[in-house]
Amino acid sequence: MTDEKIGVGVGYGKVILFGEHFVVHGYDAIVASLPSIKTVVEVKEGPWNMDDKVTEAFKRILSTLSIEGKTFSVVVKQTVPIGQNLGSSAALNVAFARAVNDLLKLGKSDDEINKAAWEGEVVFHGTPSGIDNSAATYGKPLVFKRLGPGKFDIKPFSVGKSLHLLIVSTGQNLKSTKETVDYVRERKEQYPAMTEHVFEAYGFLFNEAIKAIEKGELPYIGYLMDVDHGLLSCFNLSTDKTELARLLLQGAGALGSKITGGGAGGNLVALFDSEEKAKAAAELLQAHGFKSFYSVLS
Ligand code: MEV
Repeated sequence: MTDEKIGVGVGYGKVILFGEHFVVHGYDAIVASLPSIKTVVEVKEGPWNMDDKVTEAFKRILSTLSIEGKTFSVVVKQTVPIGQNLGSSAALNVAFARAVNDLLKLGKSDDEINKAAWEGEVVFHGTPSGIDNSAATYGKPLVFKRLGPGKFDIKPFSVGKSLHLLIVSTGQNLKSTKETVDYVRERKEQYPAMTEHVFEAYGFLFNEAIKAIEKGELPYIGYLMDVDHGLLSCFNLSTDKTELARLLLQGAGALGSKITGGGAGGNLVALFDSEEKAKAAAELLQAHGFKSFYSVLS
């Protein structure tokens, strides 16, 4: 009889509240993992059955976990929406690392899983900051800072008043995260004097945002989201659908909204002061063809 032992692992999706792109360049960012959207993976020893890119990512993960000479058949049971800037590749990498850890009883810590998943992220995104795999691993709100390749500083934070979030899909996916990250880096190199001011503005904004979140100053947090969106728009990361959704959200009582994740399509995140208002806005957006879901951070 063949040994049909199976390992199971989970990785969570995420929404970045402040700091996508700036985080790649060493600035602090604020991220919340989304327990309602997750990737669940089952593995057993057997021939690889994923496409080449995913297999390459998984091989890097195995090498970081010091596993040599084994191959795995993988079943993805549930997945974070793909290509929507909600951290699908990170959730997959974390879920795989956790599933192998479960199957082979490796006893790896969350930090070791996170580091291994980051190695997988390199295959998908080139120079990932590590924010997505960290959210996917720890499954809680974090202040995240990139210290170097594969090196992170991660801190929890408290929320003074519940953040009622609506995550809205633009239905567009114009560029990959790697392309948007490259675009920002190119502008930074091309126009260093001007872009330095944009980055400095974000640095100031982050300090304001974390204080406002801890004190529960919802209208100010919303305003800071609008400002962050403006800063990200300097790098061509907004789209026609993003702006239409933002106008509709504003009309529906959102305190603020912004791109979340890579941009150039994908999702937006909007802040409301109640679940009722967020859910009413979801209906209005649905009538205009925008899908969304509600999540609360308390
Ligand atoms: C992607 O979710 C977030 C980016 O800042 C890229 C990264 O941090 O690796 C755009």
